[in-house]
Amino acid sequence: MDREPKILIYSPNDTQVYADLLQAKGYTAVGSASTPEEAAERLAGTEVLLSWKFPLHLLSRPEASSVKWIQSMGAGVDDLVSLPHIPEQIVITRIVDQFGGSIAEYVFAYLLYLNQDISRIRIAQKEKKWEPFLPGFLAGKTMGVAGLGSIGKEIAKKARAFDMSVSGLSYSGKQAHLVDQHYGPDEWRAFVQELDYLVLTLPLTDETRHVINRELLLAMKSTACLVNVGRGKLVVEEDLIDVLHSGHLQAAVLDVFYEEPLLKENPLWTLPNVYVTPHISGPSIPLEVMRFFADNVKLYLKGEPLRGVVNRNSSY
Ligand code: GLV
Repeated sequence: MDREPKILIYSPNDTQVYADLLQAKGYTAVGSASTPEEAAERLAGTEVLLSWKFPLHLLSRPEASSVKWIQSMGAGVDDLVSLPHIPEQIVITRIVDQFGGSIAEYVFAYLLYLNQDISRIRIAQKEKKWEPFLPGFLAGKTMGVAGLGSIGKEIAKKARAFDMSVSGLSYSGKQAHLVDQHYGPDEWRAFVQELDYLVLTLPLTDETRHVINRELLLAMKSTACLVNVGRGKLVVEEDLIDVLHSGHLQAAVLDVFYEEPLLKENPLWTLPNVYVTPHISGPSIPLEVMRFFADNVKLYLKGEPLRGVVNRNSSY
């Protein structure tokens, strides 16, 4: 290697795994930190940050002046772009094309569970009761995917494999061809009205924050189900809680929340038609993140455009 940038890996966990993977690829100028204190100590001279939940206040310190590029280990970068003090000249990249498969499996696990009423089957089995019933089916139902990036694309593809009708809403309209019916950002109401399932994969931006409010939730069919794998703040959480309390909506499957970990006193934990999961639908798998990052480092060293560059205006 002609030139080796000094790389700092930051993550609350798995830093050693990432460091070993990077060293196995021949990089030696690799540091790692898993607490803000360690990051503060090791930041000086760093050119490239590979990070998850980096303590962003450190970026305004003089030790951070050498940082030129931040590669996030995840898909969503709302935390990074929402902060004004990340200097414009620092390039931010996010992982793209890696989470669609696992997130789609998560979505369909819950959709099939609900339709086949697996919880009922488990209870009946425990009581040794042979009680046939007619389950629900996905075929013929309508799935709405809000956000048609690489994650939404994979969900739409799998919905089709289940013979569902697929609608989509996106802000750019670039991937409108992926769905039977496409809606733009001014058409939320028309979009949600006909859906049996609304799946949110949107990034959190100024435009998408709180788009799902009481009015929109009440415009959905009372039998519809909401799945949020995007970001908690896409939804007005209090409105969702009220609407679910009132018996509108069949279920909400939530992997993301306003505040994570979800506070013990949050009513979402105990609402019977809510499924709470701890932000696990699209895990960052070290080997895959490292494959993406190592390819990007090669491009970086050649001065070529990186993959997954975040546009500071659109925030994704
Ligand atoms: C996880 O939520 C991610 O953005 O990768």
